Amino acid sequence: MYTSKISGLGYYVPENVVTNDDLSKIMDTNDEWIQERTGIKERRHIKKGDGNSTSTMGVKAAEIALERAKLSNDDIDLIIFATLSPDMYFPGGGVRVQDMMNMKTIPALDIRNQCSGFVYALSVGDQFIKTGMYKNILVIGSENHSGGLDMTTRGRGVSVIFGDGAGAAILTRSEEEGRGILSTHLHSEGAHAKELSLEGPSTDHWVPEIIAENPQEDIPYYPYMNGQFVFKNAVVRFSEVINEGLQANNLSPADINMLIPHQANLRISQFVQKQFRLSDDQVYNNIQKYGNTTAASIPIALTEAWEEGKIKEGDVVVLAAFGSGFTWGSAIIKW
Ligand code: UT7
Repeated sequence: MYTSKISGLGYYVPENVVTNDDLSKIMDTNDEWIQERTGIKERRHIKKGDGNSTSTMGVKAAEIALERAKLSNDDIDLIIFATLSPDMYFPGGGVRVQDMMNMKTIPALDIRNQCSGFVYALSVGDQFIKTGMYKNILVIGSENHSGGLDMTTRGRGVSVIFGDGAGAAILTRSEEEGRGILSTHLHSEGAHAKELSLEGPSTDHWVPEIIAENPQEDIPYYPYMNGQFVFKNAVVRFSEVINEGLQANNLSPADINMLIPHQANLRISQFVQKQFRLSDDQVYNNIQKYGNTTAASIPIALTEAWEEGKIKEGDVVVLAAFGSGFTWGSAIIKW
């Protein structure tokens, strides 16, 4: 019986720091509102000409993860790339990584599950390892949000929240029972697809149609979020899917050494922390520095927590995410 162990982690964020005060110069918002409602102090945005894109950031994170796993590019059997903001409409980011990293003609798969993209990607990778098909899998979550946000007062409910960045993990086959990814739990509820969505350009809304039919004040090619509805669903689904993972492994909240929630909103993380009666040491948050980086948020936070020595051999690490789709999921890992 094979299990998947995380053998390497890495992350990359663009150098350009955008503070809440910076945003208040271009839209009607302020540091107090953003911090109080979301916990965010600053985020990173790609700067035009700095060479960053969704796939290049993914490559930078992947290179660090590979080095830490003590593996070379040739050891990787599969790339799984989670993003909602690929460089191109098609093809996806995975093939760009395969090219930029000069990898063999290994398969590259893109995952379109937004904030839960990384948990979904980890789950897919885990299945390939469990069946014995692959030995080492590169899993990336990367987002370039800043280029696609409405940076005017009209878009402030969404645009102050999101940031750019990438995180990566190497999944490696192990025969050590009871270690590595113990289980993953995935869900979706498409009835709420439009509550957090970007409708166009798409086959529902091609560019000429958007231009012809939409007045400037109702542009469907910026992300839309029904914030309060998403918030209410998030807190319920986070708790459900963490419980599901704990129960499947006969664990209780007290057994959690580290919970890494998707960094959607500090208030959501704090709500979940309270529900499970977890101490500050049992939960890792870094939304204050990076905002919500969607598919990248969990691998960035996981890497930082690991770098800071907050995750040790034998620890029970829980990953949980909720977002657009709606989709949500958890992963229970014995480190
Ligand atoms: O990662 C994927 C999952 N995403 C999430 O989980 C996000 C979930 N939702 C949220 O985090 C919160 O709903 C937000 C942070 C997005 C918004 O917080 P809220 O407490 O739900 O605020 P709201 O949307 O109800 O807006 C309250 C007020 C409104 O003004 P009025 O109508 O009360 O006068 C907004 O126009 O705040 C106003 N507002 C802002 N004011 C200053 C909205 N955005 C801003 C802003 N700066 N950036």
